[in-house]
Amino acid sequence: MTNRFVARAPGRVNLIGDHTDYTGGLVLPMTIDRWTVIEGSLSEGAITLTSADEPDPISITLPVDNPAIVEPRWGRYVAGVAAELGTAAMPIDGHVTTTIPVGAGLSSSAALEVAAALALGFDGPAADLAQLARRAEHRASGVPCGIMDQLCIAAGVANHALLIDCHTLEIEAVPVPHNADVIVQFVAHRTLAGSEYAQRVSECEHAERLIGPLRLATLALVATIGDPLIQRRARHVVSENQRVRDFAIALRTNDLATAGRLMIESHHSLRDNYETSTPAVDEAVRQMCATPGVYGARITGGGFGGCIVALAAPGTSTKGWVVRAVDGATIDRT
Ligand code: GLA
Repeated sequence: MTNRFVARAPGRVNLIGDHTDYTGGLVLPMTIDRWTVIEGSLSEGAITLTSADEPDPISITLPVDNPAIVEPRWGRYVAGVAAELGTAAMPIDGHVTTTIPVGAGLSSSAALEVAAALALGFDGPAADLAQLARRAEHRASGVPCGIMDQLCIAAGVANHALLIDCHTLEIEAVPVPHNADVIVQFVAHRTLAGSEYAQRVSECEHAERLIGPLRLATLALVATIGDPLIQRRARHVVSENQRVRDFAIALRTNDLATAGRLMIESHHSLRDNYETSTPAVDEAVRQMCATPGVYGARITGGGFGGCIVALAAPGTSTKGWVVRAVDGATIDRT
């Protein structure tokens, strides 16, 4: 026993179901074959980490009180996890590497949180790991994110997307059809901190004060909302939940044309009702959808930039890269 460990957490791309998780709705993300890895050993008193992508190392004394003031900033995610683990957090000394593009909407921060939680000694079910990492994100960045990213990364299944009910946290693994490629294309860097993400969360809370839980609402009920902006936000969420259900059926029945159409409808709703797209992202989706072999494409994740995701016939030539779903986060101790 040398107390050495290697913690690995993949990134994720969301096939459909965006801005539905924080109202307990449905999402359908999958992990991608890109990872954040923390390699190191147990130490004493503090967490010290270097990163291949960051000029400055982090040194965090345990216990952590306020993760949001840790410098350099990348340490806040690790500090958030340590704060959530409390006295269970183990001091470590290690090195972080990642193949997940940072700040691209592929959940690099959630992967760091989940890998850090495992490295610092978390031991338990995937749903608990995800909830801890989500709370860590709230404390570290102040972004009131939902559970999708952390749960997908913790519970990923190779070659499957995950149909997640964000109210019950029930997960169904849905096979990605063999005759389809999932393509990710980077459009623009973004950060959700300082974006309108938190505003969207509060607009949904506003809608729920008027008509009750959006996950249970119908479009007819949404139509009774007087404020046009709040009505559009709610229309996105309610229609997106239905698209996720329909998309899961389309994947299972290998109806790729329907799956692609639902992705395009989802993009239009995020663009027009939810207003989380950008002109550059809209243009990337338009070009992607005009490419022969592409069934459909959409913005993916929190939005305001980031990446688009497409479903295409194998071998379709695009500006993006083909991703493969992998198993969720792991830790090996020796
Ligand atoms: C970000 C958040 C998720 C989710 C998506 C939008 O990725 O971290 O919880 O809300 O945006 O679907």
